Amino acid sequence: VRGRYTRPRLYEDTRLRIVAGRHPVVEQTLDEQFIPNDATLDTEENQILLVTGPNMSGKSTVMRQVALLVLMAQIGSFVPADEAEIGLVDRIFTRIGAQDDIATGQSTFMVEMTETAALLAQSTRRSLIILDEVGRGTSTYDGMAIARAIIEYIHNEPRLGCRTLFATHYHELTELEQALPRVKNYHMAAVEQDGVVVFLHELRRGGADRSYGIHVAELAGIPRQVIRRAEELLAELEGRRDATTQLRAVHAGGDGVAAPAGDQAPAARLGGRAPRAAATNGQLSLFDVAPSPALELLKRLNINELTPLDALNKLYELQKLAASE
Ligand SMILES: Nc1ncnc2c1ncn2[C@@H]1O[C@H](COP(=O)(O)OP(=O)(O)O)[C@@H](O)[C@H]1O
Ligand SMILES: [Mg+2]
Repeated sequence: VRGRYTRPRLYEDTRLRIVAGRHPVVEQTLDEQFIPNDATLDTEENQILLVTGPNMSGKSTVMRQVALLVLMAQIGSFVPADEAEIGLVDRIFTRIGAQDDIATGQSTFMVEMTETAALLAQSTRRSLIILDEVGRGTSTYDGMAIARAIIEYIHNEPRLGCRTLFATHYHELTELEQALPRVKNYHMAAVEQDGVVVFLHELRRGGADRSYGIHVAELAGIPRQVIRRAEELLAELEGRRDATTQLRAVHAGGDGVAAPAGDQAPAARLGGRAPRAAATNGQLSLFDVAPSPALELLKRLNINELTPLDALNKLYELQKLAASE
């Protein structure tokens, strides 16, 4: 068959299995080779696929591709895949992209939530729901809370329980796999070779291990100097998080690594402004554990969400904060 399209098999149950599916439009427009992806959903075990991965890794493409293949199959078309078994869907709901509806004066987030509300009200067990980065239109914690609550609702509400693809850059949401039996973590694979990150555009089981936000900033053309500084800050931040955990453990008498009073070794290793361990009889004073504003800001930053310009502005802000500490 022309274009390696295949005849899909349609079923009355709620299975959805695609083997080596391709996006019919993106595969035509790409110069490089399009990487096919599998997807398996149902209403028993693999109800909600939670797809994590950095920007540009292919989350939106793979989700749209599933929706398109289902649509094509149901209008009687062949589909771009090696195999496709599709349990009939009654509706496909998508919430993708963040286009402002300027004409009606609604903000991005309001549009996002209005559409999500409609989809939650109208879906049935037979529907297919595609949610792409829902919650990104608001602040990080808000967004994460809303995203999580939506997933829980789709999972637990008896009227729903329908096949769902949910892409998110909130890594924290991968915890949901433990809490909700029909949520399955997937990620877009990336490999790092000699400091260069390559996105494989391959959907794999399991949560993403890190975000590669700095790599995306580099691809976007942020100056090398800024990238190097960001890497430095990230390493420091990660180191500090470890050190804080260690200090807490010592403080709680947890792991028996008794730090001698006034021991500055962990701080020195970090090469930065580490918590001043001015300890008397092994106790840290309140002053020592007071959070650093720069550190707090850095922790709250969602690198995946930043535009290159945002990143620069934040970096400037961070440096100012650090200087005043
Ligand atoms: N399966 C694939 N094979 C090859 N290239 C891909 C594939 N999926 C995505 N891409 C490339 O990556 C780009 C970003 O994909 P996108 O789905 O928008 O990523 P994300 O939603 O994770 O930010 C696409 O424009 C395309 O060039
Ligand atoms: Mg996307």
